[in-house]
Amino acid sequence: MRNTRATQRPSRSGDRKHRDRCCGCWRGDRHPLHGPHKENRDATHAPHTHRTPRPARPRAPHRHGRRLVSAPPVAVLGTGRMGGAMARALIGAGHPTTVWNRTPERTRPLVAAGAVTADTPAAAAAAAPLVILCVTDDDAARAVLTDAAAALQGRTLVNVTTSTPEQARAAAALATSYGADYLAAPAMADYRTIGRPETHIMYSGQREAYDRHEDTLHALGKAARYVGADPGIASLFELAMLSLFFEVWTGYLHVLALIRHEGVPAGDFAPVAARTFGEISHLLPLIAQQVDSGDHDPAAYGGVAEQAAFTDTVIELRRTRGIDTTRLEHLKALMERAITEGKGEQGMSALFETLLAAPPGT
Ligand SMILES: NC(=O)c1ccc[n+]([C@@H]2O[C@H](COP(=O)([O-])OP(=O)(O)OC[C@H]3O[C@@H](n4cnc5c(N)ncnc54)[C@H](OP(=O)(O)O)[C@@H]3O)[C@@H](O)[C@H]2O)c1
Repeated sequence: MRNTRATQRPSRSGDRKHRDRCCGCWRGDRHPLHGPHKENRDATHAPHTHRTPRPARPRAPHRHGRRLVSAPPVAVLGTGRMGGAMARALIGAGHPTTVWNRTPERTRPLVAAGAVTADTPAAAAAAAPLVILCVTDDDAARAVLTDAAAALQGRTLVNVTTSTPEQARAAAALATSYGADYLAAPAMADYRTIGRPETHIMYSGQREAYDRHEDTLHALGKAARYVGADPGIASLFELAMLSLFFEVWTGYLHVLALIRHEGVPAGDFAPVAARTFGEISHLLPLIAQQVDSGDHDPAAYGGVAEQAAFTDTVIELRRTRGIDTTRLEHLKALMERAITEGKGEQGMSALFETLLAAPPGT
């Protein structure tokens, strides 16, 4: 592969000289936000540094390939299903988009849609202040990050690759060591929904970097949410969401088995289930607040002992129909333990402490 790094980017000493005399950025006459530099700036371009959120508009139009564009450039490293969908959304929103993919053929449809392709991760990263990384897993992400290292100084790296919190923190440390700001951005969405207004993507890492690029990131999904400075938080939330999703999924399928056992179509029950989920979703903040405060007021949904009686009924109903009761029996065991601990009259959130105190399988 051809290394175009040297021709794409000014030298580091050149960068520093340029920042010293101007706003801290490296783009010179092709600056993505404000066009040619002026020594005397007007009110629309107050002095700032790279660590200060900059005004997103007005943007001077500049050229990307043969097009005249005004949205800030973006680079996308990894154009599989998710990275490709993100590149498409960015192109659609008018961002000059440079793409790199390990298998170059995969970028062809994006080039046809208006992207420019780069031969290396570093060449792509050199083309934009915002670099999106989206590959299969953390090992691949670190490999691409290392290949892009020389061009990451002063960039913001947004890592969409699914990672554990520990992997996200390590990737953030690596990116920071290359001079980049870092945002972890695990997508809470299917790639087919990228670019829709309701698409939910969480970001964690440097707040200033998020603020600086928020307008651009909205092209991926307007329901963006900054969740904290720790780069591991967004990954933690993603995996916690997935865990909740699986718990709900398995619970729902067992309940549908109960419905079907009585010869009732599952679809007849679906509106009832949806209503119940609506009620549960309203309780979520209250339950979280009770877990945080340790005040388990039973007023909103009843006490542990009261609910334990209903649990017996449900377990018996499922058992007599040959439907698994493992998770319900686990819940019932927690309830009995909590009642023994004197928490029978407290709200169900009191089970949280019992759960933490009880090692798995006991
Ligand atoms: N798809 C979704 O709806 C979805 C939803 C939420 C989160 N995600 C997350 O998004 C990430 C990407 O998923 P995807 O669905 O886009 O996967 P995908 O379609 O299988 O694409 C994987 C991408 O990673 C690249 N890659 C893999 N190993 C690499 C390596 N060692 N070096 C360089 N590039 C490498 C592939 O390049 P090649 O083309 O050369 O193979 C390809 O661009 C994953 O972490 C996934 O968990 C995806």
